[in-house]
Amino acid sequence: MCGIVGYIGGQQAYPILIEGLSKLEYRGYDSAGVALLCEDHLEMVKSVGRLRALEEKVGATDLVGTIGIGHTRWATHGRPCDENAHPHSDCTNEFVVIHNGIIENYQSLREWLQSEGHTFRSETDTEVLAHLIEHFYEGDLKEAVRLVIDKVKGSYGMVAMSRYEPDRLICARKDSPLVIGLGEGENFIASDIPALLKYTRQTFILNDGELADVTRDSVIIENGNGVPIDKEIIHIEWDVLAAEKDGYEHFMLKEIHEQPKAIRDTLRSRITADGLVNLDEVKLTAEQTKNLLKVVMVACGTAYHAGLVGKYVFEKLLRLPVEVDVASEFRYRDPLLGEDTLVVVISQSGETADTLAALRLAKEKGSPVVAVTNVVGSTVSREADQVIYTWAGPEIAVASTKAYTTQLIVLYLLALHLGQLMEAIPNEEVVLLTQELTQLPSHVDQILRQANELTEFTSRLSQWEDTFFIGRGLDYAVALEGSLKLKEISYIHAEAYAAGELKHGTLALITENIPVIALATQPQLYEKMWSNIKEVKARDAYVLAIVMEGDRETGKEVDAVITIPATIPLLSPVLSVIPLQLLSYYAAVQRGCDVDKPRNLAKSVTVE
Ligand code: AGP
Repeated sequence: MCGIVGYIGGQQAYPILIEGLSKLEYRGYDSAGVALLCEDHLEMVKSVGRLRALEEKVGATDLVGTIGIGHTRWATHGRPCDENAHPHSDCTNEFVVIHNGIIENYQSLREWLQSEGHTFRSETDTEVLAHLIEHFYEGDLKEAVRLVIDKVKGSYGMVAMSRYEPDRLICARKDSPLVIGLGEGENFIASDIPALLKYTRQTFILNDGELADVTRDSVIIENGNGVPIDKEIIHIEWDVLAAEKDGYEHFMLKEIHEQPKAIRDTLRSRITADGLVNLDEVKLTAEQTKNLLKVVMVACGTAYHAGLVGKYVFEKLLRLPVEVDVASEFRYRDPLLGEDTLVVVISQSGETADTLAALRLAKEKGSPVVAVTNVVGSTVSREADQVIYTWAGPEIAVASTKAYTTQLIVLYLLALHLGQLMEAIPNEEVVLLTQELTQLPSHVDQILRQANELTEFTSRLSQWEDTFFIGRGLDYAVALEGSLKLKEISYIHAEAYAAGELKHGTLALITENIPVIALATQPQLYEKMWSNIKEVKARDAYVLAIVMEGDRETGKEVDAVITIPATIPLLSPVLSVIPLQLLSYYAAVQRGCDVDKPRNLAKSVTVE
């Protein structure tokens, strides 16, 4: 996620901007830039790469000034490069903005502004903000920004600055955090608290719809109607490390809790007003999709588990055969591919060596390749024919959580998009599914609020060295992901099993009190799951069931139950995985493991 820093006061701004941005580096970024009011003009320097590259570029320039803004960019619209780095300016270079978030209607705004004579320099959504300020400015920067935010749709944490008004910074916030740090004769702005702590712990936290007028000696905050608000000063107690995790003990827990926002962002602007799917990143024509004979999904680890869910979804909705392969197997089995086989490669980092090799093999064999990745500008994103980004923001913990759930979201959207092209799914069914997709973030929120219901089972689980996850259909696919989460961070040997398969051998390992996690969210499989649960209960296993609201039977058979909100069964993996992520996290904490950096593992496996 991008980083924002602003300063206005009596000190030189540039060193403060760089220092603040360096405290936000942990969030992940691919380019950076600063803009300062240097005497009578705006000076802006931007560079792709790390902050060091920016500092080298600034080296010769004399960036002297006491008001400035800085930004580290995590690309969403437009590849990482100097021109796409923030800040962005208008045609006259009299206004500059930095921005976190996604301007959903930026294309139409860009076209309108171009028709009004504006010329654009970047591929970003953000640049429209600078030109809109130029368009609306009539002598009051704050009023111009207010008109801009009335015009845009989407999410923003933005800061605007202008040579015409050298004594103020204007900020606005909707869905993307902004904090104002309060000093003596100086004030600071940041997207994240770590950037402020060296200078102040007294802050105003901007809420959605609020706009702030920041000068050296004052901060006036107004609501969406321009009415000044009396804000409470929040004193920050955190140290820098705690602040980087937004107060959570580990990045993994922070990222588990970021999933409602990550899912919302990934859905953003991909569902039309009439409830259909709009994936303009996918260039396949209706003709090409109708000629598809097969889909192959290739990935590793958690991404592979997302592909397993994708198989069920694609086969159910498109009635197309789907193969799912771990990339390290796929690339050596001389797979049957060609233009009638769509290959979907899934990779959070976009740098996994085996997945990259699979992508290259698929292209060599003439298959159209769609990539699902979280990192703009990653190798996978550059080499695939088409890319659909998960907008989860940087995932720092080695154990993947928000990347997985947003991969699922993209796979649902891709299935529906292809189904529309193939005319395989009636529009009414698409609308039903997209309506429920938009409910998922609040359902996830509800599950996260139940985390303490896992305490008793987790404390039992953390005492064991072996455990089993069982499920059928989609629940089996999620059981595999749950067992990987538990293994990789708690080091408990967890095994996921197709529930119907237990009696063919593994049931021999079910002993008294062994923890078993049973997923039972698929109504058409309830009776079968109940008999499998009875099988393990007959051997005195200690069973936690993950069930869906409305199921009053499964709970009678088990020792503990977590209920997820009712949803369309096809969408349940996005919800049923959440308790498993939490279970793994708390078991690992109880076992004193290094949750964010588990032994032997790397965040991105760039070797074979
Ligand atoms: C997930 O928790 C693991 N860290 C690992 O399995 C990961 O999913 C796998 O290495 C694939 O990574 P990618 O999505 O970046 O390709």
